[in-house]
Amino acid sequence: MNILILGSGGREHTFAHQIAKSEMCNNLYVAPGNAGTEAIATNLPINVTDFKAIEETVLENKIAMVVVGPEDPLVKGIANYFSSSEALKNVMLIGPSERGALLEGSKERAKEFMAMYKIPTAAYESFTKESLDAGKKFLETLQPPYVLKADGLAAGKGVLILENLDEAKNELETMLSGKFGEASKTVVIEEFLDGIELSVFVLTDGKNYKILPTAKDYKRIGEGDKGLNTGGMGAVSPVPFADDSFMQKIEDRIVKPTVEGLQKENIDYKGFVFIGLIKVNNNPYVIEYNVRMGDPETEVVLPRIETDLVALLQATHQQKLDSIDLKIDSRAATTVMVVSGGYPETYEKGKEIKGTETIEDSLVFHAGTKSENGKLLTNGGRVIAITSLDENYKQALKKSYQNIEKLSFDKMYYRTDIGFDLD
Ligand code: AMP
Ligand code: GLY
Repeated sequence: MNILILGSGGREHTFAHQIAKSEMCNNLYVAPGNAGTEAIATNLPINVTDFKAIEETVLENKIAMVVVGPEDPLVKGIANYFSSSEALKNVMLIGPSERGALLEGSKERAKEFMAMYKIPTAAYESFTKESLDAGKKFLETLQPPYVLKADGLAAGKGVLILENLDEAKNELETMLSGKFGEASKTVVIEEFLDGIELSVFVLTDGKNYKILPTAKDYKRIGEGDKGLNTGGMGAVSPVPFADDSFMQKIEDRIVKPTVEGLQKENIDYKGFVFIGLIKVNNNPYVIEYNVRMGDPETEVVLPRIETDLVALLQATHQQKLDSIDLKIDSRAATTVMVVSGGYPETYEKGKEIKGTETIEDSLVFHAGTKSENGKLLTNGGRVIAITSLDENYKQALKKSYQNIEKLSFDKMYYRTDIGFDLD
């Protein structure tokens, strides 16, 4: 079949890499893609939220499956656009409907869903401009640090964690006055949970589910997890501290009730659920839901899946996930993100990247890259992820770092301590 992947990051290059290996895939397209996807698929210059242009390309290229990478098109209802169109309704779109995507699109909705199905999460209340005073009073009842979350999508910047009560009250007011535009018209204030984070990925057809490998990402720009938040600077899979008994708790207390909740509410959900968790006293709590795969988590999760990815996604769309035998590579995978100096603030693009052809025994996943006149150039903050597989995460990391040393571009930066807190 012909397959289209929407997105342009390391996540989408990884999907393309796995899908291109499948015998079930004839022609592979990525929109808009990057220099990495261009080498293994056909890039199409289409914006991921331009549903009309996506429709035209799907029909023109006889595309049978569309894999949606980022959350934006999902929250904007791409699955509904497909299912309500006569011409598109038989296309297998991998991603939840608009109601499903609200688990990521609205933090308030996610908290209400968790409360409804008794899924463990931090205690919370939500506030609007009209209830600002009540919000300030609620903050007074909490212990620092204070966690303030914009309800809507805010490009990963909508969560503030503040030590000081007055500062928290001021930020609440600023957020409700439009600091993040529409996204912070409602603000969720929640109890701070002190523990270690990990992510669990679930593929569901709305009825059945498969738990994919776990991963831990490193979000801060600086060593030792210091400094500004980024999209993610590296990841490790599996998470060494998520042993079988802890995974059983996650499945019983979180994964099962999540899928049952979606089913009870008749939500059409055929796609990934990325559950951000925190482990406190050996118990899992949900920090957030995402309705897509993570980036760079995908770069360590998908390479460990041995089952044909297209068969897995087809079974998802056909609600036959129960018939699939999910095979996972027992080796560990690590990825390290190479970024443009200055990221996540301002950085320059268009720097020539050298050395990718010298990488051995690791996978090179492009994120912000483009090719121009035969040259490979940087085209974003996160540029390339180097993924390695080995017996354990330390050996895998060693390979990633040895290979990164062969790469170069002006103002290249990466964290040298991915996995530092896993011992
Ligand atoms: P989110 O966008 O909801 O994932 O939040 C971003 C980050 O803020 C998370 O990855 C956590 O590190 C942190 N965070 C969010 N909620 C809490 C909480 N209730 N307690 C402690 N840390 C939190
Ligand atoms: N790496 C975090 C995310 O994809 O949301």
